[in-house]
Amino acid sequence: MRIVKTIYEVRKAVKEWKREGLTVGLVPTMGYLHEGHKSLIERAVRENDRVVVSDFVNPTQFAPNEDFESYPRDIDADAALCESAGASLIFNPNAEEMYDNALTFVDMNKITKVLCGKTRPIHFSGVCTVVSKLFNIVAPDRAYFGEKDAQQLCVIRKMVKDLNFDIEIVGCPIIREADGLAKSSRNTYLNSEEREAALCLSRALNLGRKIITGGETNTETVVKAITAEIEKEPLAKIDYVEIVDFNTLERLDSVNKPVLCAAAVYIGKTRLIDNFIME
Ligand code: PAF
Repeated sequence: MRIVKTIYEVRKAVKEWKREGLTVGLVPTMGYLHEGHKSLIERAVRENDRVVVSDFVNPTQFAPNEDFESYPRDIDADAALCESAGASLIFNPNAEEMYDNALTFVDMNKITKVLCGKTRPIHFSGVCTVVSKLFNIVAPDRAYFGEKDAQQLCVIRKMVKDLNFDIEIVGCPIIREADGLAKSSRNTYLNSEEREAALCLSRALNLGRKIITGGETNTETVVKAITAEIEKEPLAKIDYVEIVDFNTLERLDSVNKPVLCAAAVYIGKTRLIDNFIME
């Protein structure tokens, strides 16, 4: 496995693979890789001849008041994880290589303005821009994204359709710690008291899922129950709890089609997200 820093080197490697008739999978990441990323890479390795992992903390998806500077980085540990998962290449560019005074950005309406888009208004434009660039640089057959960022997955599927990228988007299930906390690079921000408090999120969503499975179809009732469960935790401050159509992200009154039940909660200064999808 190689680590490369330039677009030129990625394109050269991918062109050689394609000349040999090999298929290519892409796993876009911001590094500080954990078991969740590993599951994406392993799936990509199973389904493609070669796998590129991009490892780039993308500045354009962070607002000035967010954690771009403090976002954890560890390329050596990332390389070890990618190697053990069977990746072929890590693309680890710097911001200049990726943006080089760029004036062009990819933007999307509607589904980027709800849920996380309400408190992070520029976030999805940054995500769409960097993911489009990675798609153009790597030209993969398939790209892999985690369902933990369910809105991101929905936005990317829409972008691929709208901009006619010839790439299959593969969504992969959330990977959790043994106690239920969804794996996230941002979990490292939590001190031990906050780590314990953070469990309120998966606990509350599990309760919501149980209520729906038990036959409740009124979304307001379910959202109220989830909210009340999170509010039992004094360190938690809710950003949102919503039940939406998984394709359009429109708020639903009733659970009568595939739904995404998503929540974002601040535990101290750390903003955590989690969700469940019901087909
Ligand atoms: O999900 C992430 O880690 C990032 O948003 C992504 C897709 C790698 C774009 O920077």
